[in-house]
Parts: sequence; C-alpha cells; structure tokens
Amino acid sequence: MTVSDPVVESVVATISRSATEIRQGLIGRRGTVDEENPSGETQAEADVWADELLGDRLAAIDGVGQYASEERAEIVDCGDDPSSTDAYAVAVDPLDGSSNLKSNNAMGTIFGVYDAALPARGDTLVAAGFVLYGPITTMVIATDELITEYELSGGERTVVDRDVTLPAEPVVYGFGGRVPDWPDDFRAYAREIESELKLRYGGALIGDVNQVLTYGGTFGYPGLESRPEGKLRLQFEGNPIGYVVERAGGRSSNGSQSLLTVEPDDLHDRTPVHVGNEELIDRLEDALA
Ligand code: AHG
Ligand code: MN
Ligand code: MN
Repeated sequence: MTVSDPVVESVVATISRSATEIRQGLIGRRGTVDEENPSGETQAEADVWADELLGDRLAAIDGVGQYASEERAEIVDCGDDPSSTDAYAVAVDPLDGSSNLKSNNAMGTIFGVYDAALPARGDTLVAAGFVLYGPITTMVIATDELITEYELSGGERTVVDRDVTLPAEPVVYGFGGRVPDWPDDFRAYAREIESELKLRYGGALIGDVNQVLTYGGTFGYPGLESRPEGKLRLQFEGNPIGYVVERAGGRSSNGSQSLLTVEPDDLHDRTPVHVGNEELIDRLEDALA
C-alpha cells in the first residue's frame, strides 16, 4: 500500500528499503564513539552510521528541502525550500534506543515529514512513523489518509495491519526516568496506573510505544525534578510518535497539551512525552494541572 504523495512515498520507501541494511549493519557497530550528539549523549557507532546512511539517501530525494537528525547539530539544506508547497523537511531519529544495542533489545528508527521549515510544530506533519527492529522488522506509516503497519523483508514492505487502531481497553504502561526523580503529582498518577495496568518498559521509545499501539495503555517519559523538560526530543521523537498515536485514535501530551501543538524554540528541544488511550492522557493532564 503506497502513500499518494510521491515525495512522501519516496521518503517512506527509502526508509523501509534502508531498514534491512540498518538492521544488518548493527552487527559490528555496537560500540560507542568518543563523540556526543547535540543532546550531549554519547553516540554509538551505529547511531552515526545509520544517520549518515539515511541522511545521504533522504537528502537526495527531489522535494526534500531539509534533513535533520538527532545526531546532527545543524539542519542539512537539501536545496528545495521546505516552506514552498511541494517540498518537505524530514526529521529522523536514526537509531532510537541505541543503549539497547549492548543488551540486544528492541530498537527503532523514527521519522517525521514536516510541511514547514524546521524546527516545526507537530501539526505541520504530513507523515510520520517508525521502523521497529524486533524479532521481526516492522514499520508503521501514518499520513492524513492512512495508518498502516508493514512487515519488512528484503527491502519490500508487506501490509500486516491496514488500519492501526489503539485498542479501547488499556492493558500496559511504561514510564521512563527514575521514581525518586518524578515530581509528586506525576508519581501519584503513576501509582494509580500501576494498580490498573501491566508494566512494559524496555528502554527504547519505539518498542514501548508499539506495546501501547498493540495492547492499549500509555507510555510516558515525564518531566523530572532534575530535568523538567524531560529527556525525549520534540522534533525527532515526541512529534512523530504523537502524530502516530493520535492517528491511531489515542492522545498525546507534554503534560498539559497535545505534543503537536507545542511551539518549538530549538531543533533539539526536549519535551515530556505522554501517549496512549485518550482517557489515560486526560487523567494525566488533570493530575498535573
Ligand atoms: P535514543 O537512543 O534515540 O537516544 O533514545 C533513547 C530514549 C528512548 O528511546 C527511550 O524511551 C529513553 O531514551 C530511555 O531512557 P532511559 O534510559 O532513561 O530509560
Ligand atoms: Mn530516540
Ligand atoms: Mn537515537
């Protein structure tokens, strides 16, 4: 099932075709390099390698005006002006959950296609999604016309769920950060959720969010006492995941409003991220009000 906008289809096809190569390329790149990303985090060899591979291929697509990634301080100008009607800006987290490389746990690649110059609000997204490197390599692609899950193999994508929808009854939750670092109001909310749902937290946003998309529930990486803005990046993680979950019938929030309405200041802004069933996110916002 292809996406009707030819530029968006080129972007998602490039990512899905690269996914098999990225998965294979993780082998032998599990170490760290002595560099930091713009968020001040040590980079894995695979972070840098996946970013270079995707950056080269996505920047070369006619109609992609900007390429930006969690691993690069600056936006790459690809020639077309993303604020013009037929050009887009692509923001990528080339390898999400790279701390799971060492422990061989799930990881992902996240992308957002913005119809605006970066940094941009999430409600300028025309497409977003992710690849999940799990036992099977799967990909979720959401646009304003579809939200579809595929299995990827040999560079091809096969539809496995034509209309990804958050199950009505929540089952799982996962909260990041450390309990002693949670603000009291979030901790009280978390205690309620813990008494109702099952814990699923694997340390990679994509693995944890896919649990929520599959079983219903909520994932959160809250603002912390030590870091009120939280850990996750708005452009590369919060907005794309917020877009996907809202398209699947759920909600997203930074604690008080949809992630897609948050005005970015800087390309690498962090934000608290909460996604999941509408009722759970409504309760979170009441708890933090
Ligand atoms: P990345 O590897 O792209 O930096 O992402 C890691 C993020 C996200 O995937 C996950 O939800 C979170 O970090 C886990 O953080 P903790 O290790 O603090 O739990
Ligand atoms: Mn990430
Ligand atoms: Mn990453």
